[in-house]
Amino acid sequence: MSASPSAIQSVLVENRIFPPAESLVKAARISGMAGYEALCAEADKDFEGFWARLARENLTWTRPFTQTLDESEAPFYKWFADGELNASANCLDKHMGTPVENKTAIIFEADGGEVTKVTYKELLARVSQFANALKTRGVKKGDRVLIYMPMTIEGIVAMQACARIGATHSVVFGGFSAKAVQERIQDAGAVAVITANYQLRGGKELPLKSIVDEAIASGGCECVKTVFVYERTATAWNRVDGRDVSFTEALQGQSTECAPVPVNAEHPLFVLYTSGSTGKPKGVQHSTGGYMLWAKLTMDWTFDIQPSDVFWCTADIGWVTGHTYITYGPLAAGATEVVFEGVPTYPNAGRFWQMIERHKVSVFYTAPTAIRSLIKAADSDEAVHPKKSDLSSLRILGSVGEPINPEAWMWYYKNVGGERCPIVDTWWQTENGGHLITPLPGATPLVPGSCTLPLPGIAAAIVDETGHDLPNGSGGLLVIKRPWPSMIRTIWGDPERFKKAYFPEEMGGKIYLAGDGAVRDAKTGYFRVTGRIDDVLNVSGHRMGTMEIESALVSKSDLVAEAAVVGRPDDLTGEAICAFVVLKRPRPTGEEAAQIAKELRDWVAKEIGPIAKPKDIRFGENLPKTRSGKIMRRLLRSLAKGESITQDTSTLENPAILDQLAQNN
Ligand code: WTA
Repeated sequence: MSASPSAIQSVLVENRIFPPAESLVKAARISGMAGYEALCAEADKDFEGFWARLARENLTWTRPFTQTLDESEAPFYKWFADGELNASANCLDKHMGTPVENKTAIIFEADGGEVTKVTYKELLARVSQFANALKTRGVKKGDRVLIYMPMTIEGIVAMQACARIGATHSVVFGGFSAKAVQERIQDAGAVAVITANYQLRGGKELPLKSIVDEAIASGGCECVKTVFVYERTATAWNRVDGRDVSFTEALQGQSTECAPVPVNAEHPLFVLYTSGSTGKPKGVQHSTGGYMLWAKLTMDWTFDIQPSDVFWCTADIGWVTGHTYITYGPLAAGATEVVFEGVPTYPNAGRFWQMIERHKVSVFYTAPTAIRSLIKAADSDEAVHPKKSDLSSLRILGSVGEPINPEAWMWYYKNVGGERCPIVDTWWQTENGGHLITPLPGATPLVPGSCTLPLPGIAAAIVDETGHDLPNGSGGLLVIKRPWPSMIRTIWGDPERFKKAYFPEEMGGKIYLAGDGAVRDAKTGYFRVTGRIDDVLNVSGHRMGTMEIESALVSKSDLVAEAAVVGRPDDLTGEAICAFVVLKRPRPTGEEAAQIAKELRDWVAKEIGPIAKPKDIRFGENLPKTRSGKIMRRLLRSLAKGESITQDTSTLENPAILDQLAQNN
């Protein structure tokens, strides 16, 4: 397991409990533990009836479903399968003719601080207009569209416009490389790419369009017929005639009305690539009906969203959190949301707190890694401390992406939430669509570092390798024993990998294996997620496969003979990437080693993206292997942590190598 032993230890001895304030319990949609338990009981009693009721109440169907759950081809579960709806209509059209119509949908704050607001009505017009532009360029229902956009209103418009015409979007985070874009275009068979000339982050202008050009020029991307270019800045960009079109040109003369195309509930709304323990990133395919139900429902349940709330999720639309809690959930809930283009530390590390004050944010959702870095900044500079801002508008705080250590939890609770706001520590994954295990703000007593209890209807459990339940108090594998509406439907183009990765035969083939280790509290049954149990790293809340980084390193074949990548605990980023490398030349030391390490980091940034750059690179003449040639990763993990090796090394072919690899560069 990847979380640091000290972090786990401090969670295990955690005994502070923070019950929700009476006022919150009274006002909340799910009121008190009795409210939570009543929903759980309803789901237990009539599982399908429960979901059918919620799907009818929370979504607008153009054709009502008659069947709730189809398990006939498990684990390829289908939900609401004969129903039809449109995701964009469920975010926008449904509010027309209601008081929400003229409400602010998005408060956009640009990197440089300029603020733009759009109402629901205006957003609908913009989405419709862009949807018409997509149609004019031949994009139609069932096509895939790759989106490589900065955090802007246009990014959300692009996603919603695809959904509106039934095209499946695949958003690629703006920090990924040309190679990553190329692989995703190919895998998804994208007919169009929506991008921007540049993105603005921390006062810098960073290219996007030229990376798309490089990706397409690398070959195998003939499927792309159009590249839409949003001109975020005035900087010129290189046009490929016949293929490229600017947003302004594409929108010229387009109507602001476009009827939403009804799709089947199982129609893929999006494919989002994420790292797994083997091979290339996998395209996680989500449905329209079940996914939209979850986006709406969790806004209501977890964030208890009310008409007067201003919601702010600080994620990027390139990650699943941005999909569910920026593009779809808040709009489906009719909320006003803040969308932020920049970074938390620009122009200073008080930006988040100043923005909460400026926009009177009431529900704030961010990642532990951001909190930890802002704690550090506030410790060294009073001026960026949250107490310098008026945070009295806040009523609920959220955390997502990685385990939150109790120290960071307490700081967040005290300094940001004024000991008044509950923290919902939401556990979920790209594959889940939305929150699965999380406190409810008006019900669940909080324990720092614990994501507490599963949402109603979510059969979360801790089991051993064969799928048998383990008693509370002992750690094991986190699984979900029954399907839920917003679960992953398949891996795009690879159903076999889907079955193997998530529904292992040893557990009977129908239980969802999350890939996380967890333990339930012996008394309360509260869940504590301790980290990944596979070869997936979580660096600053970003998922990265060790194999992906290893393949990137060895693809520098003039230099690298062999590479092994492991994670090690890091106070700021949760985990840090540590690479052990054998070169095709004598083992370098000193200046030469530093120079080659830099070259390799830059190479990985080019192959995958800067977020995958190894923090430590260590060179050896070999890697620690068993006599049968297997790399002993547990030894590497100990070395990465700087621990002395106490494990049995008698099966090791070359024990002397350990001393070499213990040295950092
Ligand atoms: C981790 C992000 C502990 C976990 C939504 C999971 C968490 C992986 C939490 C999924 C949490 C996410 N507590 N760990 N509250 N939330 N994780 O797909 O290891 O980017 O498997 O989805 O992040 O990352 P992903």
